[in-house]
Amino acid sequence: MSRSARVFPSQHPLIRHKLTLLRDRRTEPKKFRELIREVSILLAYEATADLAWREVEVHSPLALAKGHELTEKIGLVPVLRAGLGMVEGIWEMMPTAEVWHIGLYRDERSLKPVEYYNKLPIHPTVQVCLVLDPMLATGGSAVATVDMLKKWGAQRIKFVGIIAAPEGVQRLSQAHPDVDIHIAVIDDHLTPEPQRPGDPPHGFIVPGLGDAGDRQFGTA
Ligand code: PRP
Repeated sequence: MSRSARVFPSQHPLIRHKLTLLRDRRTEPKKFRELIREVSILLAYEATADLAWREVEVHSPLALAKGHELTEKIGLVPVLRAGLGMVEGIWEMMPTAEVWHIGLYRDERSLKPVEYYNKLPIHPTVQVCLVLDPMLATGGSAVATVDMLKKWGAQRIKFVGIIAAPEGVQRLSQAHPDVDIHIAVIDDHLTPEPQRPGDPPHGFIVPGLGDAGDRQFGTA
């Protein structure tokens, strides 16, 4: 049976507070990277609430206790470059996860994703993939990443991002209705084609936070 994509904009006050600091153009790269890391951990906490587990027993110093153990192997899939900053904090929370990098950049004119790095092995090695990319703008990069993961054989995929445009949410949900979208916030719209000098570039999320890659790596 087909289903519609589930979209989860976060309601969490900590995420909202940190998101506001991320948007602030005065926030410098060091602080910006810290915030990306912290927001990513909080989003991953929400995105992993339905991971499968089994009951196990463990001896505490006092008695035998019933406990739980995760049963699914998790893959973190950061989309280069901007997704890199989302990995480390989440990885600390789930240190046995595998990290598979996907290199895509968005062509400035066509806004289409261009693949430049993919070292996925022939057979899938994980059961749940978390695609990590702070920005879901037109959705082209996210759709291309999920296409690659499905071709690889990934069974369960979730998108974890920080800011989305409605256009990106719609495109990803239509292309991949089985992929849950966990996002800090859905913003208003994307910038149109510039009409005169000084207009912002095409395809940026408004109000957004600018270019998440440039702001993390100090390359603005
Ligand atoms: C940004 C962002 C996403 C993509 C989103 O990356 O990190 O990967 O654009 O846009 P889309 O939804 O329209 O595809 P960018 O191409 O700027 O590369 P970078 O991360 O290397 O800066």
